[in-house]
Amino acid sequence: MVAKRDTSAAWTRTGFVDRYGPWALVAGASEGLGAAYARALAARGLDLVLVARRREALEECGAALERDHGVRVRCLDGDLGDRRFLEELLETCASLDVGLLVYNAAHAPVGPFTSARLDDLLRVAAVNVRGPVSLVHGLLPGLVARGRGGVILMTSLAGNQGSPYISTYAASKAFIRVFAEGLWYELKDEGVDILACQAGAVRTPGYSGASEGKDAPGTLDPEQVVAQALAALGRKPVVVPGRLNKVAAALMIRLLPRRRAIAIMAGNTEVLAAPQAAPAAASPTASPAADRPRHKDAP
Ligand SMILES: NC(=O)c1ccc[n+]([C@@H]2O[C@H](COP(=O)([O-])OP(=O)(O)OC[C@H]3O[C@@H](n4cnc5c(N)ncnc54)[C@H](OP(=O)(O)O)[C@@H]3O)[C@@H](O)[C@H]2O)c1
Repeated sequence: MVAKRDTSAAWTRTGFVDRYGPWALVAGASEGLGAAYARALAARGLDLVLVARRREALEECGAALERDHGVRVRCLDGDLGDRRFLEELLETCASLDVGLLVYNAAHAPVGPFTSARLDDLLRVAAVNVRGPVSLVHGLLPGLVARGRGGVILMTSLAGNQGSPYISTYAASKAFIRVFAEGLWYELKDEGVDILACQAGAVRTPGYSGASEGKDAPGTLDPEQVVAQALAALGRKPVVVPGRLNKVAAALMIRLLPRRRAIAIMAGNTEVLAAPQAAPAAASPTASPAADRPRHKDAP
């Protein structure tokens, strides 16, 4: 039976667990936005499977959630770009009643395309595309069978137009938005809520480090992004958190000629590609420029 959607302004804790619980999987949960999702979901009473590569950071995060919210937490360390790890993850989830997937992890190499290593660029496809498609494919049949559940896919305003020097990352984020919109339509009468959360700049540890503490206009805290995503879940296919980001997105997509939008992105992202750049603060528009992908796996 398809569960009825709650149309009230906010979920009760029990209502949220009934619709999206008892377990949620947060892929990319050891810090930043993923850790904020984990805290928000634990506060709403969901048990959590937390995934990231750094075991210690995950366990620290998980222990705090168990202590503060009395929920159960399982920590699984591994690389979401690794096909075998995705299979292991789905096997673990098969023994749990997972009602919500949040795919937050991303790989984001920065720099001229021609200077990048092919294996690094293909890793963007593995982490940002194969990872979410595999987990959604593995988990959706269970959600549809129950007639309730949700999927939140993190994406970026960088995916709204060509974004030079982060072309592959931005293209993967465009994929996620379009993927989520299609799924949203397919599943809207099945009781399963699909949402793409299209963020501008977010004050995650990596973003703050790269911007040297200077925020771009419209920068949000992870908690603000998560609160707006959870409020939008079940109400629409795509959410752009933050008023300024919404305006910037409308400007870039609807008002400016595409060529101009790409040039604006280039004006911001070329400083990202430059050594010792202070990227986000240089942004004339709030969000697209402010998206600050991180390249953790650089040689
Ligand atoms: N921050 C921003 O300004 C911004 C703006 C727009 C969109 N976004 C989107 O928001 C999401 C989160 O961004 P973020 O800034 O919080 O940080 P992030 O660098 O994307 O990391 C997020 C989490 O993912 C984990 N992770 C990364 N790669 C992984 C992999 N291959 N396997 C397993 N876990 C992995 C990281 O932990 P480990 O290192 O322990 O693995 C971390 O816990 C991304 O999808 C990004 O595209 C962010």
